[in-house]
Amino acid sequence: MAIEQTLSIIKPDAVRDNNIGNILAIFEKSGLVVKGMKMLQLTQEQAQEFYAVHQERPFYNSLVAFMISGPVVVSILEGENAVLHHRDVMGATNPEDAAEGTIRQLYGANIDNNAVHGSDSLENAKIECDFFFAE
Ligand code: CMP
Repeated sequence: MAIEQTLSIIKPDAVRDNNIGNILAIFEKSGLVVKGMKMLQLTQEQAQEFYAVHQERPFYNSLVAFMISGPVVVSILEGENAVLHHRDVMGATNPEDAAEGTIRQLYGANIDNNAVHGSDSLENAKIECDFFFAE
């Protein structure tokens, strides 16, 4: 297995609910290493660009509105097979389907307010890490 990097976003709902530390602890206990991190407020333009792949989907506008509703915490996580490993730790996109002990099962309320985002492929991980950490 290879060492990979992936992008994590702790979304506005989890930040509002004071779950930043709880979520980072799960990442770290699972073996992922935080290589970069910042808290920021996305602009509408940034959120639209970041989620442009979903722009034809019916949930796009509400997704963008949610992602700019408060600050987020973006991190680069590194580890063995990090992209898939991080997705396992997050759980299914819809918290109702997420396995016991996963972040979305513990801290997500519904598919729109699902606490975290993670890159879905190694190719997108590179694009998403560069999006926030180009420097
Ligand atoms: P995320 O991993 O951030 O990627 C896109 C987000 O859109 C997803 O998490 C969900 O929060 C949100 N979303 C809302 N409805 C859907 C849907 N039907 N399918 C996938 N994602 C959805």
